[in-house]
Amino acid sequence: MKVLIADKFESQGIEQLKAAGCEVISNPELAGDTLVAALKDTACQILIVRSTKVPAEAIQAATGLKLVIRAGAGYDTIDVKAASAKGVKVANCPGMNSTAVAELAMGMIVALDRRIVHNTVDLRNGVWNKKEYSKALGLKGRTLGIIGLGKIGMLLAERAGAFEMNLLYTDVVANSAAEQKLAARKVDLDTLLKESDFVSVHTPGGEGTKHLIGSAQLALMKPTACLIHCARGGVVDENAVAQAIQAGKLRGAALDVFEQEPGANDKEFHDAVIRCDRVYGTHHIGASTDQAQLAVAEETVRIVQTFKNSGNVLNCVN
Ligand code: MLT
Repeated sequence: MKVLIADKFESQGIEQLKAAGCEVISNPELAGDTLVAALKDTACQILIVRSTKVPAEAIQAATGLKLVIRAGAGYDTIDVKAASAKGVKVANCPGMNSTAVAELAMGMIVALDRRIVHNTVDLRNGVWNKKEYSKALGLKGRTLGIIGLGKIGMLLAERAGAFEMNLLYTDVVANSAAEQKLAARKVDLDTLLKESDFVSVHTPGGEGTKHLIGSAQLALMKPTACLIHCARGGVVDENAVAQAIQAGKLRGAALDVFEQEPGANDKEFHDAVIRCDRVYGTHHIGASTDQAQLAVAEETVRIVQTFKNSGNVLNCVN
């Protein structure tokens, strides 16, 4: 079975695929036209991607493609509709990097409260300003509102519980484990936004959640509150965040994901929100720890092996 890897992928995973008898072609530079050409020329049956976008054009041009695997949880970078239309299956690796994302979200809460990035920048510029940076809420007894208490939200709740934070959450279903173990309280979105000192977004992306947090929602938040967003670009309206911060209606925001996110090989990013003071940004690195990448690679190999041996597609999303 021929496998094309069009992204960075753990070398251990590549070796495991080879050991399983796959012919592996790995080219992390593929994107756009070169991906289209490679899908035509290699006639691979399986395509593995992480950040590389797989548009309809690439799927339509593919000659032997049967399965696209997203080495991650989200699959909004793959045109699933076009894949389904061509009978190509799409699979993902849910849950494998959840801890890494929860760790980043927790780090962002601390970083925003203590303004760690601002502290560092001032020190680098030779400025000592203990008076300014002595202002912080502190986390103990403060309220964290988690929008979407799935696996990542729950891991964040456990971490915030260790910081003795109070927990509110929204979700379609009640999470009795969180309520019993962590005294988390399920509320509606408006209540969560009004009562929280920190709000962290952990919903899936897509049309259903587009701009779930926009200017109307931000207006409900306390001016001393901070927003953390490590979910999917588009769930939060970035322009609305910039306006709320500039108007002093929000203390800070930390964003790991963006509406117009560059692909794997793009080297520039000029999103206006990131130039706002009090907005911290990271390069969609929530899932990017060694532990998480290894777990994702292992799951990807498991999907390939199962498909090769039985034709079944684990974690199929279409
Ligand atoms: C995911 O969907 O799991 C992450 O976005 C993975 C990544 O950073 O590529």
